[in-house]
Amino acid sequence: ATGSLLDARARPLRDLRISVTDRCNFRCVYCMPKEVFGKDYPYLPHADLLSFEEIVRLARLFVAHGAEKIRLTGGEPLLRKNIETLIASLAELRTPEGRPVDLTLTTNGSLLARKARGLAAAGLRRVTVSLDALDEALFKRMNDADFPVGDVLRGIDAAAAAGLGPVKVNMVVKKGTNDHQILPMARHFRGSGHILRFIEYMDVGASNGWKMDEVLPSAEVLARIGAAWPLAPAAPLYRGEVARRWRYADGGGEIGAISSVTQAFCGDCSRARLSTEGKLYLCLFAQQGYDLRALLRGGRDDAEIASAIAHVWQQRGDNYSERRSAETARGPKIEMSYIGG
Ligand code: GTP
Ligand code: 5AD
Ligand code: SF4
Ligand code: SF4
Repeated sequence: ATGSLLDARARPLRDLRISVTDRCNFRCVYCMPKEVFGKDYPYLPHADLLSFEEIVRLARLFVAHGAEKIRLTGGEPLLRKNIETLIASLAELRTPEGRPVDLTLTTNGSLLARKARGLAAAGLRRVTVSLDALDEALFKRMNDADFPVGDVLRGIDAAAAAGLGPVKVNMVVKKGTNDHQILPMARHFRGSGHILRFIEYMDVGASNGWKMDEVLPSAEVLARIGAAWPLAPAAPLYRGEVARRWRYADGGGEIGAISSVTQAFCGDCSRARLSTEGKLYLCLFAQQGYDLRALLRGGRDDAEIASAIAHVWQQRGDNYSERRSAETARGPKIEMSYIGG
């Protein structure tokens, strides 16, 4: 337990993202397209998933190594049965300095109206909700599962009412698909207390057919919004913050821009990712992970597993977004629904 583990580029381990299921009730065209994730898609069998006990045991070791933030992802994390039980256990973890971890979750929002209060009661601190459009027809086309946008909007408000705010709302901007929703989304969330963030469309996974000309650079997003409502830059809240923050000059709140394509942020990347079946990935674009489940189920003790994690992190040199090109975009890469966003 050092708390000062550094990788080969001197980046500390601060952030653990845990994928709790590879399933989702949406079929977002850029993430789990129906042609690939159809009725017969071979999801992981239950015995292959890390159990809650296994997740908590690993999370404790990551926290001892310096992780201060834990984010549950998926797939759709709220589809994992009894997720509140897992949250309650993770909420008890303490950093070496005795602080609770920043415990959060990224969700598509479809089940949030029903679950927000229970999640907050279990100890979740905040949530991030993905929402790519307000226009009903377009939203349904993008989630490709016929989910109405009203469900997600109600989920966002329920989360804020349950104390899980300020809610961050993530919009992936795909040029030619939903970029005309930038201003309507900005207008809707201005003054709401929720923080809208625009994400450049990335070449994650191998099934979304990414092309550079579908990326709308964040600079363009900010120019369009700034023309309607002047913006002023705001300082990062912590080192390595993924989103660049901007404030509406008129007091309408803040927005964020996540620009992994046009302004890579690998230099400060302190994120470790734990897949649904217990593999440790050092990058969203990694080609392989390290099988921690084999250590857990092979009867290794905590000290052995902690030292394995340390060795893996210390040799980490990943910086994919700084090296992205048409060549690298062609893969092979792991699917985002498996590794967790
Ligand atoms: P907070 O600041 O704690 O709210 O978290 P965050 O900014 O890391 O937010 P979140 O986890 O919601 O990340 C938002 C999006 O940014 C993700 O869904 C990804 O699309 C992208 N992203 C997050 N981390 C990485 C990363 O390490 N690499 C790349 N390339 N993209 C990332
Ligand atoms: N590019 C950018 N963001 C993506 N997400 C999923 N796929 C992509 C992609 N190709 C986002 C989701 C959600 C988070 C989990 O990752 O919209 O906000
Ligand atoms: Fe599901 Fe999120 Fe992927 Fe959409 S982006 S298919 S909601 S995991
Ligand atoms: Fe981190 Fe990899 Fe994303 Fe770079 S591309 S910020 S190294 S996860």
